[in-house]
Amino acid sequence: MVPVLTTERLTLRGLTRDDTDAVLRVFADPEMSRFFEADLSDPVQCRRMIERRLAYDGPPELGHWVIERDGEVIGLAHLRPSWELPGNVVEIGYFLEPAHGGSGLATEAAARLLDYGLAELGVPAVWALIRESNVSSVKLAQRLGFLDVGSGMHYGAEHRVHVKLPDLHGRTHHIELWVPDLAEAEASFGWLLGELGWREFQRWPDGVSWKLGATYLVVEQSPALTAREHRRRDPGLNHLALHVSTRQQVDQLADQAGAHGWKPLFADRYPHAGGDQHYAAYLENAHGFEVELVATPPGVHSNG
Ligand SMILES: CC(C)(COP(=O)(O)OP(=O)(O)OC[C@H]1O[C@@H](n2cnc3c(N)ncnc32)[C@H](O)[C@@H]1OP(=O)(O)O)[C@@H](O)C(=O)NCCC(=O)NCCS
Repeated sequence: MVPVLTTERLTLRGLTRDDTDAVLRVFADPEMSRFFEADLSDPVQCRRMIERRLAYDGPPELGHWVIERDGEVIGLAHLRPSWELPGNVVEIGYFLEPAHGGSGLATEAAARLLDYGLAELGVPAVWALIRESNVSSVKLAQRLGFLDVGSGMHYGAEHRVHVKLPDLHGRTHHIELWVPDLAEAEASFGWLLGELGWREFQRWPDGVSWKLGATYLVVEQSPALTAREHRRRDPGLNHLALHVSTRQQVDQLADQAGAHGWKPLFADRYPHAGGDQHYAAYLENAHGFEVELVATPPGVHSNG
């Protein structure tokens, strides 16, 4: 069941069968269905829509919510894998009873779902399919910073395709590691980061950095260094953990790492040293830096 999400004026909670009457009321005005294939003011079609939502069996952190204000159900929303767009991407939808329209409530609900998906779950993007003539919904998407990236035939009609990407605010800008031996660090980190898609970004006599997306990692043999090795059990950085797309890639990297200055940690418990649900390789280089390579779980984090 999806989590309860709250905003200043609203509570979003998982849809249940007990909400059926309230949802029928939300869709009672035929205007609500103007942009849909089905006429949801027809109780039979509306019940079918509710049943389809209740039968949702995708990733449990995604699904269908009702929008409540002061304990009354006033709308419906979803964040779920798209069946219209390829690549297992996540699609949002929102529906607000007309009596509550025009005061930013749908925007507030959708903003909370976006924050939940992009910031809490780490979904790489949220997609919305909107009929061009659905002006209220297009305006809502624009207000929330969706990009209009094209159009296509979806849900039986031409729809604009909108996408909302996470913003950089608060994310890691760079990480700087001071190392006692630049050549060794370059051999171990340079190889590993290169395998993971990072590219060399800056180079100067005492350092080198690699960049992936908006984040770069620096290794520097600073003249101001005060020790010759990194002691990961001392206060400070213990280890760096990096996403790896698949378990097979974690296995491959763990196999190859020995030839590039890394030795395995917790090898007797590979690949579950971090717990039954956690698939990871733990590696340490010659100067005591630990890296954890974590298989990203399939589902909502995946782009395809
Ligand atoms: C799409 C839908 C949810 C939008 O509803 P809405 O009432 O326009 O959206 P909001 O509740 O966010 O209100 C936004 C309006 O309130 C105004 N508003 C007032 N206070 C506001 C606030 N604090 N924040 C944002 N907007 C505010 C906005 O200016 C906007 O009015 P405008 O469209 O005239 O510019 C609604 O039309 C609907 O349910 N339609 C049928 C179902 C549907 O088509 N869903 C979308 C499928 S893609």
